[in-house]
Amino acid sequence: MTHSPSNAANSGTFTIGGDLSVNRLGFGAMRITGPGIWGPPADHDEAIRTLKRLPELGVNFIDTADSYGPDVSEWLIREALHPRPKGFVIATKSGLTRSGPDIWKPVGRPEYLLQQVHKSLRNLGVEQIDLWQLHRIDPRVPADEQFDAVRSFIDQKLIRHAGLSEVSVENIKAASKFFDVATVQNRYNLVDRTSEAVLDYCTARNIGFIPWFPLAAGDLARPGSILDTMAGKYGAQPSQIALAWILKRSPVMLPIPGTSKVAHLEQNVAAADITLSDEDFAALDAEGRKAFRAAS
Ligand SMILES: NC(=O)c1ccc[n+]([C@@H]2O[C@H](COP(=O)([O-])OP(=O)(O)OC[C@H]3O[C@@H](n4cnc5c(N)ncnc54)[C@H](OP(=O)(O)O)[C@@H]3O)[C@@H](O)[C@H]2O)c1
Repeated sequence: MTHSPSNAANSGTFTIGGDLSVNRLGFGAMRITGPGIWGPPADHDEAIRTLKRLPELGVNFIDTADSYGPDVSEWLIREALHPRPKGFVIATKSGLTRSGPDIWKPVGRPEYLLQQVHKSLRNLGVEQIDLWQLHRIDPRVPADEQFDAVRSFIDQKLIRHAGLSEVSVENIKAASKFFDVATVQNRYNLVDRTSEAVLDYCTARNIGFIPWFPLAAGDLARPGSILDTMAGKYGAQPSQIALAWILKRSPVMLPIPGTSKVAHLEQNVAAADITLSDEDFAALDAEGRKAFRAAS
């Protein structure tokens, strides 16, 4: 197969919920806000340029949330990309409230979630949300009530597909009694393997797995580490090797590296051009698991 240079299409495709096909390498829109994910970004125009560059680079899957800013991320996406380019999928989330920088408190009461779905529809300027994710299961509200609310959003056609975030296999099974879980968004990267069982569960059932914090390469990015050595071998940046590894880990993997800068976006998308050999993938995998065990 001939690859065009630096296009997210080179990462392959995944079909969310059986009908929304996206290029697997996506974009996380949390970093286009202010410090503490609070208020507007330091450089509004660069954030807009970054968003506008996405379709040019073949990125057609964006992840955001009502709580990023709050609202700021969804507003900027609308400012830069409305009306949505054909085939563009925007995923958002609700269920975390914001009362200040770096403060994230879950609220999963059905009437609050419904309010936030309506707000996101308005913020994004769409008639239906492609993929809406319950940002957190609120431990103070019966989980079934939250899942039932999600089911009702699908029934009312406010949202097309629904996903979960920071969940266990048991949570996915419980939610699946109420709605088809299209995606799961958990923290995952080469050296953070906490969600390995959840990833395997998603892979076996063709549920999209959206690893957040995909670039947290940690100690492995230091000079002389295996990521560094591998980067030299492939003529790439360590962060690109981290993304190439995560893409190869599972066909349901939808990484959403986040940045507020065009240059970093271009660098991240170029990771889709890198195909690690099976041996190099296995060597990185072993090193990542070792680092994870040592840190646990
Ligand atoms: N579900 C959840 O609970 C949850 C939690 C956190 C995040 N998320 C989602 O996951 C996405 C990704 O997570 P994340 O932003 O925390 O982690 P990340 O994508 O691993 O890392 C983002 C950080 O790396 C920097 N960066 C990005 N590309 C770079 C490059 N090529 N070179 C150097 N630095 C680079 C960014 O800064 P610059 O802006 O300077 O490039 C930013 O500070 C978020 O945007 C959000 O959509 C979800």
